[in-house]
Amino acid sequence: MVQINENFLKLKAGYLFPEIARRVSEFSKGNPDADIIRLGIGDVTEPLPLAIVNAMHEAVDEMASRESFHGYGPEQGYSFLRDCIAKYDYQDRGVSVAADEIFVSDGSKCDSGNILDIFGPGNRIAITDPVYPVYVDTNVMAGHTGPADDDGRYGGLVYLPVTEENGFIPQLPSEPVDLIYLCYPNNPTGTVATRETLQQWVDYAKEYGSIILFDAAYEAYIADDDIPHSIYEISGAREVAVEFRSFSKNAGFTGTRCAFTVVPRDVTIPVGDEHVSLRELWNRRQCTKFNGASFVVQKGAAAAYSEEGRGQIRDLVNFYMTNARLLREGLQELGITVYGGENAPYVWLKTPNGLNSWDFFDVLLSKGHLVGTPGSGFGAAGEGYFRLSAFNSRENVEAALERFKLAVAGP
Ligand code: MLT
Repeated sequence: MVQINENFLKLKAGYLFPEIARRVSEFSKGNPDADIIRLGIGDVTEPLPLAIVNAMHEAVDEMASRESFHGYGPEQGYSFLRDCIAKYDYQDRGVSVAADEIFVSDGSKCDSGNILDIFGPGNRIAITDPVYPVYVDTNVMAGHTGPADDDGRYGGLVYLPVTEENGFIPQLPSEPVDLIYLCYPNNPTGTVATRETLQQWVDYAKEYGSIILFDAAYEAYIADDDIPHSIYEISGAREVAVEFRSFSKNAGFTGTRCAFTVVPRDVTIPVGDEHVSLRELWNRRQCTKFNGASFVVQKGAAAAYSEEGRGQIRDLVNFYMTNARLLREGLQELGITVYGGENAPYVWLKTPNGLNSWDFFDVLLSKGHLVGTPGSGFGAAGEGYFRLSAFNSRENVEAALERFKLAVAGP
């Protein structure tokens, strides 16, 4: 008899975004003429920057001739890209990360799930609540949790609430934990962590021998000079942190797919009398299960670091940040309590009239033909909140605000 991985049976409902898509598609079937605006999933809408498009065209031409054709590339990524990442994302900012500590991949979502391959089953795992659901679901799939309770919280995970009451700053766990997921700028709340907050986490990890899995997919959106872009700006972090970065949200690669994970040499785990290098384990995992991101895509990603590319990416990020500001200000004018949207492309609002998150989702969809993401979909502590993404055209963001107003004001 075939045995399945029964941990999958513990998962609650569908993954959040497909579940939203399912509800929207059901609504569309009954309302075929509804012109729906989607500010739900954080998916970019604007075209790739020209410098990137040109580099990818050239790369395709290289692939078209026997002399310049490329077969399998290095599993860790081409050095033309790893060198750019090391220089522009880290060394030029005074942060010590070497090119061979960078592992290029086809996405941070995959990497943040795949990283669990190199950790054992007995770890105590801390996540914030609300949280990017991938961290939770991948741990459930890997058998690192018990079943879920009525609030959707899985046994064995240490939940750290981030709400209005604590200023969206998670408290350090009251019990020792081994793996800690942090995401800043935060998805879904759009809030950021100060240097002092991150230093407390790094100090905690050093004290308890924990590893921080730091998701910095939205770092390009940091506008405030004092907010760290990388966990490695924090003293001691090279010994305790893995960092995930992506080209999805800055360079518009959600459909093109390229990201990278940094595993510093200094992260070692005691095993018996030895210290095992996490970087070596991750390298071994990638060499066995991954054949590298495509050459054409990596050429495109490298062009993101050219002078032209950096300027175009800045413009793209500024465009979405103006959307975020319009959403934030527009909602505030309606008397809605809003967080985020200043250093992140997400606006996190308190649902009006005390509605729960999914009920508010239904109101917005049915009255405004507007899609957002229910806060409770990110965790029990997200109940009563709602997320709007700034990734859309200006026209749609402006129209969305009008629709929001009508939906909230209407009977
Ligand atoms: C989100 O909407 O939270 C993101 O698009 C999810 C992701 O990046 O995978």
